[in-house]
Amino acid sequence: MMKKLLLTTLAIIATITMVAQTADPFLTSIVNGVPWTDDHGKPVNAHGACIVEENGKYYLFGEWKSDTTNAFPGFACYSSTDLVNWKFERVALPLQKDGLLGPNRVGERPKVMRCPKTGEYIMLAHTDDMRYKDPQVGLAVAKEITGPYTFIGPLLYKGKPIKRWDMGTFQDHDGTGYLLMHHGDIYRLSKDYRKAVKKVADGIKEGGESPAMLHKDGTYYLFGSNLTSWERNDNFYHTAPGIEGPWTKQGIFCPEGTLTYNSQSTFILPLHRGDSIVYMYMGDRWSYPHQASSATYVWMPMQVNGGKVNIPEYWPVWNPVTMQPVRDLGGTVIPVNFKTATKGAKLELPFEGTRIAVIGHTFNNGGYGRISIIDSQGGTVHTNLIDFYSKVDDHGLRYVSPLLPRGRYTLVVECAGEHPHWSNKRGDYFGSREDWVTVEEVRVY
Ligand code: GAL
Repeated sequence: MMKKLLLTTLAIIATITMVAQTADPFLTSIVNGVPWTDDHGKPVNAHGACIVEENGKYYLFGEWKSDTTNAFPGFACYSSTDLVNWKFERVALPLQKDGLLGPNRVGERPKVMRCPKTGEYIMLAHTDDMRYKDPQVGLAVAKEITGPYTFIGPLLYKGKPIKRWDMGTFQDHDGTGYLLMHHGDIYRLSKDYRKAVKKVADGIKEGGESPAMLHKDGTYYLFGSNLTSWERNDNFYHTAPGIEGPWTKQGIFCPEGTLTYNSQSTFILPLHRGDSIVYMYMGDRWSYPHQASSATYVWMPMQVNGGKVNIPEYWPVWNPVTMQPVRDLGGTVIPVNFKTATKGAKLELPFEGTRIAVIGHTFNNGGYGRISIIDSQGGTVHTNLIDFYSKVDDHGLRYVSPLLPRGRYTLVVECAGEHPHWSNKRGDYFGSREDWVTVEEVRVY
């Protein structure tokens, strides 16, 4: 009897321990700075993005980047009901035969809005030549939100294209649509959103790139970044009592030196939570040349009160329903000491479970590492190229595998022997100069 009780007690303790070790926070969380995997097992590839919420679904539009060149390959559309699990809908605007978004052109920052007057979906985007010498705003339209979108041509203002580059859009509470241009030009769109009809703000002082906007309690907030190409910097914001201004520069909204938690602004999504609206910052962590695989997203709720905006701490993992960070990642912790810049050097770690997460160090001489999950038959069940570079140091999550059927696998981390680097129009060098891949810990679920 006594023995039976003891065995039962042990079994209960073992079960509890198992549950505690395997609790998986990634099922319901937004995870910043790691590639997200879509319903086809591919990276979610939608950068310089925006989200449109419609009928209980979120539609994510962004640059459908390539891993080899910056030439426009299309804009992608994904959908989700929870902002965590993403379904690839389609390439909403494909590469065009010719014209502004034809071969060897640049297409960036697609922004979609539903025009309240016509019910049409309007996509505006930055179009350019490969040297960024022919900036214009492209206009595409669709009857269905997921497209396909028909490319019309340049958005016109007074019959002419708007010859500027980084752009964003903003839809006000009354349905009026606006085009936001870098360095603080704001245009009001026509009732059908197909042209710009009025320049409502002209060169807001010290306005930046990658503009995004929100409107709360009679105050307008305009976000932007400094000019450092795909490198991160401390982004900032302006406020005004009306969209025409007067605009006042307020300063940064993330702690100084974090470089906006290693990201660049692209869009602000209002999320309805109970009786209130929480504004979600959406930013890009670029990774040239392997943007498709390795550029990631940084999304965080912002504190917006009385003319001030703040994201006081970085939440690598957070729940978009409770709006709370996940402070304990759980799982079974396996300390690792893998640091190499030698091409082909590998970490191989067998594990049993349903998911694995890799924690590592990024710094200014980091490079690319390929992470793969190999099953017991030797088949690759998932693989992704990971960027271990960041201008400012960061210790944290670098990879979270998709949910796997429970089984035995091997995690492989291999130094790719290359690093992100690029130059801007003036030829200034950006990125890393070495190939370091550093893994510090692994967590098994
Ligand atoms: C940034 C801009 C990006 C992209 C990049 C290219 O300034 O925000 O969208 O154009 O330059 O270097």
